[in-house]
Amino acid sequence: MDTYEAIYSRRSIRDFEDKEIDIEIVKRIINAGIRAPTNNHMREWEFIIIDKESRLDVIKKVSKNNKESDAIRIIDNWGLSDGLQRDTYIDAIPKQHKMLLTSACLIIPCFRNQGSLLKPKNLSALNSFASIWCCIENMLIAASSEGIYGVTRIPFDKEITHIREMLDIPEDYEFPCYLALGYPSKDEKPIPQHFFQAEDKMHYNKW
Ligand SMILES: Cc1cc2nc3c(=O)[nH]c(=O)nc-3n(C[C@H](O)[C@H](O)[C@H](O)COP(=O)(O)O)c2cc1C
Repeated sequence: MDTYEAIYSRRSIRDFEDKEIDIEIVKRIINAGIRAPTNNHMREWEFIIIDKESRLDVIKKVSKNNKESDAIRIIDNWGLSDGLQRDTYIDAIPKQHKMLLTSACLIIPCFRNQGSLLKPKNLSALNSFASIWCCIENMLIAASSEGIYGVTRIPFDKEITHIREMLDIPEDYEFPCYLALGYPSKDEKPIPQHFFQAEDKMHYNKW
C-alpha cells in the first residue's frame, strides 16, 4: 500500500473481529516502529505482547463498568461542548476494557526513561517519551497498510502500578500506553471526526 493511503486509512478501532494476527505481521509492525526517529540514537524500546490467557489479569484495573451515562457524566465534568468530540468519547469510554480484551494483539510498548517523566526540567527531558510516540505512530501506520487497525489507551496510575509489577517492567523503563491491534469488526462504524486540510492549519511567516 502507498504510504499516503496507509496514513489516510489509519483510524482508531475499538471493535475487533475475532481473528488472530499472524506473528510475522506483528513483527513487521514492530519493525516499522523501530525505524522511527529516536532522541538518543539507541532505540531503547521493548514491546511486551500479552497473550489472550493473560489479558484479564493484565487489564484488571481498567474500569469495565462504564456505560454511556457514565461517559456523559465524565465529559460533562470535563466541560466538553463540541458535538463531534463528545460523540467520540461517548463511543470510546464504554469500550476501554473490551477493546483491550478482544483485540487480536495487545502490546505494552516500553521506553527507557531517565529522570522524572512527570516532572521534567525542560523539553529535552521528555525526548524519550516523544520518541516512543513516533514509534507507536509508525506501528499504527504500518498496521493500517496490513488492514489492521487499533487504538492506544493511556493508563491510569493504578493500572501502571499493577502492570509494572505484573510484567516485571524494569525501574528505568516506562510504558506510555496500551496498544491494541486487530482486524475491525464488520459492525464497526466510524465516528465522524473534524476534518481539516493543510490550508486550514498553515501560516506563512507569522501565526
Ligand atoms: C496520546 C493519545 C492518547 C489516546 N488515548 C486514548 C485512550 O485512552 N482511549 C481511547 O480509546 N483512545 C485513545 N486515543 C485515541 C484517540 O481517541 C483517537 O486517536 C482520536 O479520537 C482520533 O481518532 P482517529 O484515531 O480515528 O483518527 C488516544 C490517542 C492519542 C494520540
